[in-house]
Amino acid sequence: MKVGIIGSGSISEYHLRAFQSVPDVEVAAITSIALEQAKDVASRFGIPKVYESSEALLADNEIDAVSVAVWNASHAELSIAALNAGKHVFCEKPMARNAAEAAGMVAAEKKSGKLLMIGLVRRFDLKSDAALNVVRSGALGDIYYMKAAYLRRDGQPGGWFTDKSRSGGGALIDIGIHSLDLALYLADAGAVRSVRGTTFQLPDIMKGVKGTEKYLSKEADGLRDVEDMVTANLFFENGAVLNLEASWAQHLKEDSQNLELFGTKGGLKVDPELSLSWNNGSYPADTSYNIHSSLNGEKFLDEIFSREMSHFRDCVVDAVPCIAPSSDGLNLMKIIDAVYLSAEENREVLIG
Ligand SMILES: NC(=O)c1ccc[n+]([C@@H]2O[C@H](COP(=O)([O-])OP(=O)(O)OC[C@H]3O[C@@H](n4cnc5c(N)ncnc54)[C@H](O)[C@@H]3O)[C@@H](O)[C@H]2O)c1
Repeated sequence: MKVGIIGSGSISEYHLRAFQSVPDVEVAAITSIALEQAKDVASRFGIPKVYESSEALLADNEIDAVSVAVWNASHAELSIAALNAGKHVFCEKPMARNAAEAAGMVAAEKKSGKLLMIGLVRRFDLKSDAALNVVRSGALGDIYYMKAAYLRRDGQPGGWFTDKSRSGGGALIDIGIHSLDLALYLADAGAVRSVRGTTFQLPDIMKGVKGTEKYLSKEADGLRDVEDMVTANLFFENGAVLNLEASWAQHLKEDSQNLELFGTKGGLKVDPELSLSWNNGSYPADTSYNIHSSLNGEKFLDEIFSREMSHFRDCVVDAVPCIAPSSDGLNLMKIIDAVYLSAEENREVLIG
């Protein structure tokens, strides 16, 4: 399978290392609006062709599939153009800026007969596999409550991430989406009926504080018209509730990811470490898992991207059913749209 990469920023390099680790996959070309950056990436990763535009890359008949790794605002346009050009598409999360754009992508996928896979990367963590096995074994019983949080102390990225016209939103669409997606994927609790959300804009919370550049975008600081923190409750058709929190900046002792699923027979803590709490006969018991996770550093991050791209190859070449389909990406966008609308209008929003 020959792949073309669109975008030459931070995540493109993860995609490149991942694609290059998969047998039978060749990264044949790259393009970016930052052409010099694309040339630099191409020379470091040994990519034979650098195109000056995405149109030129998509016209290359040798390319079977593309990875869309650019600002959220261009996900829909580039994915649709690639599908129309007969390419399979791997598109980074969030699928788009909103559900309307995402629906257009799903329609283009159906028309093209090609695959549109979404970069819901946490599904490819070994720990997520183990958690899915626990849930599917029935050990939790009926899941009635979930908690999903992705919190950073000093993670305001700036650049395009904080410019709503290019990102579609802030902490929720950028990082909260990972925890939300993993909760939905693992719990499989069905449709969300309604949401109630609140967002906070805290642009100056880390202003002038030293040593807070860790998550700063490569681009110079820009507009800040998105939320830095969100809290939301999701109400499912089956009566279950999910409490979601995400922040780029908060006065926390440390960054954290927390994901818990509570059922009638057991409770599963997924993040930060996997453990099952249950009743063993007449005694409360805990089972802990000794599994490395993407949360534990660069090496394991590379590993899950590699598993993700290997799955993309298997879907395209061997017609393996995709575990990160566009329909799930669209569902996430509908929920995110509803949280933003709820926060804006200060009311519960039904998801149609
Ligand atoms: N899966 C994850 O964990 C994860 C992590 C980080 C970022 N992402 C996603 O990856 C995407 C890119 O994020 P990033 O951190 O790499 O950003 P970045 O700013 O580092 O890079 C973006 C790149 O896209 C290029 N670009 C923008 N619009 C373009 C267009 N229309 N055509 C061609 N090139 C274009 C830019 O020049 C730049 O090279 C975003 O959607 C982001 O949400 C996912």
